Amino acid sequence: MTAIDQAHNIEALRHLARKRLPRMVFDYIDGGADDEITLGRNDRRYADYELNFRSLVDVSRIELETTVMGAPCRAPIIVSPTAAQRLFNPRAGEAAVARAAKAKGLVYCLSTLASTTIEDIAQHTDGPKWFQVYVWKDRALVEQAMERARTAGFTGLILTVDVPVAGNRERDHLNAFTIPPKISTRTVAQVLARPGYLWDMASSPPIQAANWADMDTGGMGIIQFLDSQFDRTVTWADAKWMKEAWGGPFAVKGIARPDDARRCLDIGADAVWVSNHGGRQLDTAPATIDTLGDIVAAVAGQAEVILDGGIRRGTDIIKALALGATAVAVGRPYLFGLGAGGQPGVERALDILITALARDMALVGAARPRDLSPDFVRQPR
Ligand code: FNR
Ligand code: LAC
Repeated sequence: MTAIDQAHNIEALRHLARKRLPRMVFDYIDGGADDEITLGRNDRRYADYELNFRSLVDVSRIELETTVMGAPCRAPIIVSPTAAQRLFNPRAGEAAVARAAKAKGLVYCLSTLASTTIEDIAQHTDGPKWFQVYVWKDRALVEQAMERARTAGFTGLILTVDVPVAGNRERDHLNAFTIPPKISTRTVAQVLARPGYLWDMASSPPIQAANWADMDTGGMGIIQFLDSQFDRTVTWADAKWMKEAWGGPFAVKGIARPDDARRCLDIGADAVWVSNHGGRQLDTAPATIDTLGDIVAAVAGQAEVILDGGIRRGTDIIKALALGATAVAVGRPYLFGLGAGGQPGVERALDILITALARDMALVGAARPRDLSPDFVRQPR
């Protein structure tokens, strides 16, 4: 049995990733903005909601299959978009995550800042996949990327709206972290302590924003590239333009308020994605689970609702579904798996979540997600 097989929860994969990755790479995954208040709350607030389980329900068959924005899913769990996945495993990266998602029957979301191209991902998986975008100053560039995604068979578009500028990740400042990582006097010891990673990085192609490789980025790192490209004049009119230009299933990711959720409906979004970017952007924003109920009420069934942030246990997923989410999305759980051991590590992370969800559905007394309702959850005052 490998260490990955022996990891029985996401925290165990996190520990394995910490052992495998240079400290600065681990901190980029694990960390959040400022004092990491939102990062911590996202995770901890689930514990304040109690599960009111129902007894003597036939749970001999747990059916987790669903569709989200028209895409078939074996369970209501989405592989959230995360930047530069080759950082966390220089050889495997996005290809490993996309293949793992396909193997587990889940939707894979490719980040605009991926270190693998749209076309390469399409070679690695014929499973359901969505493409995540930001609105950049040069709309023509965004349109070209959307067209490439459409041609490559991506069915959904996700517009992320909580990154008008990159958040203040202080662990990254302390580590002098850049993407790709640069070895400096401050970080040389961290990298030398992980020779396997160093070898993988040195012997594979450079880690860069692969979909924008033609642009002259003047050698800047991915986060600086994001900051230089992001158009801070963007408003709902641009989101509307994007939905129309795409024409297919469209989600707005990074919604924290009921009035913004209604604006998503006004522009014709198919899904409202409740997220604070995993506590990496505005610190002291509320935990996503705390904002879900009011947002679901505002959406009133006119769109699907996806929630991410701090999902680590089957019970976390049940609470989100009971309070009205169509599905949850996860970021760090599978990144820890990727850092711990490539595709098998990602598959392990997804298995842990799917298995836990099935078991906890039986325990809570609901055979299908649609059998869940808010009365399963006792909410904190
Ligand atoms: C992210 N996230 C993110 N979101 C996005 O829309 N585009 C991106 O490129 C990235 N990049 C990224 C990198 C890393 C290292 C992390 C951890 C996260 C946010 C991600 O999609 C999701 O919203 C959060 O990760 C959810 O919180 P958990 O599951 O990590 O707690
Ligand atoms: C992040 C950006 C790149 O969260 O989305 O690191």
